Amino acid sequence: MKDKCVLVTGSSSGIGYEITSKLLDLGAKVIGIARNHDKSNLVHKNYITYDCDVSVRDKLEILLKQILKNHPQINCLISNAGYGDFGPLENFSTLQIHNFMAANLTSHIIITKFLLPHFKRNKMGDVIFIGSEAGLLGAKNGSLYCAAKFGLRGFSQALIKDVANKNIRVSIINPGMVRTPFFDNLNFEPGIDKGNALSIKDISSTVACVLNLSRDTIVDEINLSPSKNAIKIK
Ligand SMILES: NC(=O)c1ccc[n+]([C@@H]2O[C@H](COP(=O)([O-])OP(=O)(O)OC[C@H]3O[C@@H](n4cnc5c(N)ncnc54)[C@H](OP(=O)(O)O)[C@@H]3O)[C@@H](O)[C@H]2O)c1
Repeated sequence: MKDKCVLVTGSSSGIGYEITSKLLDLGAKVIGIARNHDKSNLVHKNYITYDCDVSVRDKLEILLKQILKNHPQINCLISNAGYGDFGPLENFSTLQIHNFMAANLTSHIIITKFLLPHFKRNKMGDVIFIGSEAGLLGAKNGSLYCAAKFGLRGFSQALIKDVANKNIRVSIINPGMVRTPFFDNLNFEPGIDKGNALSIKDISSTVACVLNLSRDTIVDEINLSPSKNAIKIK
């Protein structure tokens, strides 16, 4: 992984933090984006962080230009930042709906749009989206979250076909529940049994595995499910 310079979004916590740690351990350089890295204690000579709310379009654009200028060696994107919000659609204000889609779908598209010309110029790149099982099947109270994750999956599937002949590999990993701060502000979480949630290390290992495969192999999609799916209402 010493040849990899990876932009990871949502690097301050949970899955993105774990992927960042794993890639650093494997020798990659990592550029992290999240709103607030103060909560993360990860310090490494090959790790640089930028604080930004990816749902704020103009700030995100400025940051992406700055990052590409400062780190022209970026050759990989792990597009992971996001959050959950669940409930009947009519409970959300239009502003909440707009901000939710901006963070959970549009930002992934914008970040990819900025990196693609760079990857094309360098004749190489990797993009991995962190989707969700919610992108595979609609779930009660999940209208917004499922819309974002189905959208991300459709985006990924289409993009694969647009860029495969440019030596740019695109993948989406769709995990089921993982024990992370994702559930801190929700009224449910994975059940208490160990098998009710995926191991977070299995997600970061899956990312490393996808990146390590030969460049002629494209992993279009991976679905990961806990062995015993069950939730606990808080
Ligand atoms: N946990 C699960 O069960 C599960 C299952 C399937 C898929 N996922 C997906 O995995 C991804 C990561 O979730 P997680 O479980 O690791 O949750 P998490 O621990 O809450 O981490 C979310 C990360 O995204 C960042 N983030 C959220 N909103 C942001 C924004 N507007 N701008 C910039 N950064 C933002 C957070 O950083 P800041 O708060 O510092 O901004 C944090 O680093 C999400 O896309 C989620 O949908 C999670």
